[in-house]
Amino acid sequence: MNILELIGIVVLLYYIINLMLWIVLDSDIELAVKEKFGQPLSSLRGKVVWITGASSGIGKYLALDLAKYGVRLVISARRENELIKVKEECLDNCHGLLARDDILILKMDMLDIDKHEDHFKNVIDHFGKLDILVNNAGRSQRAEWDKIDIQVDRDLFELDVFSVINLSRVVVRYFKQCAGGIGHIAITSSGAGLTALPFSASYCGAKHALHGYFASLKVEEQKIDVTVFCPGPIATDFLQESFTADPNKKYGERIASDDRRMTAERCGHLFAVALANKTYQSWVGLFPVSLLLYITQYFPNLRLMVMKILGTRGIKKIREGK
Ligand SMILES: NC(=O)c1ccc[n+]([C@@H]2O[C@H](COP(=O)([O-])OP(=O)(O)OC[C@H]3O[C@@H](n4cnc5c(N)ncnc54)[C@H](OP(=O)(O)O)[C@@H]3O)[C@@H](O)[C@H]2O)c1
Repeated sequence: MNILELIGIVVLLYYIINLMLWIVLDSDIELAVKEKFGQPLSSLRGKVVWITGASSGIGKYLALDLAKYGVRLVISARRENELIKVKEECLDNCHGLLARDDILILKMDMLDIDKHEDHFKNVIDHFGKLDILVNNAGRSQRAEWDKIDIQVDRDLFELDVFSVINLSRVVVRYFKQCAGGIGHIAITSSGAGLTALPFSASYCGAKHALHGYFASLKVEEQKIDVTVFCPGPIATDFLQESFTADPNKKYGERIASDDRRMTAERCGHLFAVALANKTYQSWVGLFPVSLLLYITQYFPNLRLMVMKILGTRGIKKIREGK
């Protein structure tokens, strides 16, 4: 065998192993490696982490996972009753590592941008510091591209983008002025932030916009860690609240119990791994979502071909976990 043949075999083996990992793993390879060999979640013990949208779904399970390792939490959302339940579950799960005062409930509507400073002051008054902000609150969308009322685009961007940017600016100013420029901001993006999906144009636009904003933050403030976490289909109640094409109508459906979706618990855990390891961009999802996300990231030309072969209905089926 000559040297060229050897190089050819090594390259081929590399791609075959990668392909197998993209098929079997439920996250990107970096995150899977970090989960096994990276910083353990206990490295976050004692840190103060503020999670928005912590009353249900991914935010709730992220809070539960972090509580197990003694991470002090600010949990915020509009439904205070749900937050009270999340706090109790966190305290039950924390193996005595947290006291009641270590979890602060912050009833907060992200859309009340004028109150973001006050909410932040509450956090600092309570804990004296903030280490990580997780911008998780958000709503998805199901709607045909040409039927979307422009007011829906505005409302969706107001919640999924502008409220996130405003709160993050309050926190980044604090990191720069009071924490030596060091801190960590995370966002819950989506597979829809990495690639276009049908029937969610405003949502795809919004999640893509977040990638731009936070990539800019990362190059401008290099000491601040940024984590852009991109879940594929996750088993939460998000479809109930999803935007439609009509500003006055929510989607109002529930996911089916046999849909092929990652559990919110697993997603929350992988999010915690991404935070502990300060990964810049991570994605999670079951096959074939994980494989498709790899293709969209690294083989843009192949992506167009695959999208064409799958067709709108095929992509929709995968996206809905069918
Ligand atoms: N589930 C998926 O398949 C999936 C996939 C990719 C990305 N994501 C993203 O994951 C994030 C969480 O979604 P989820 O699936 O966990 O759905 P979810 O259970 O509906 O959670 C949404 C959270 O956002 C909060 N929220 C919504 N509007 C708010 C507002 N105006 N002010 C404050 N909080 C608000 C909700 O709390 P209150 O109602 O109590 O305010 C809730 O805690 C979203 O950003 C979503 O885009 C989800």
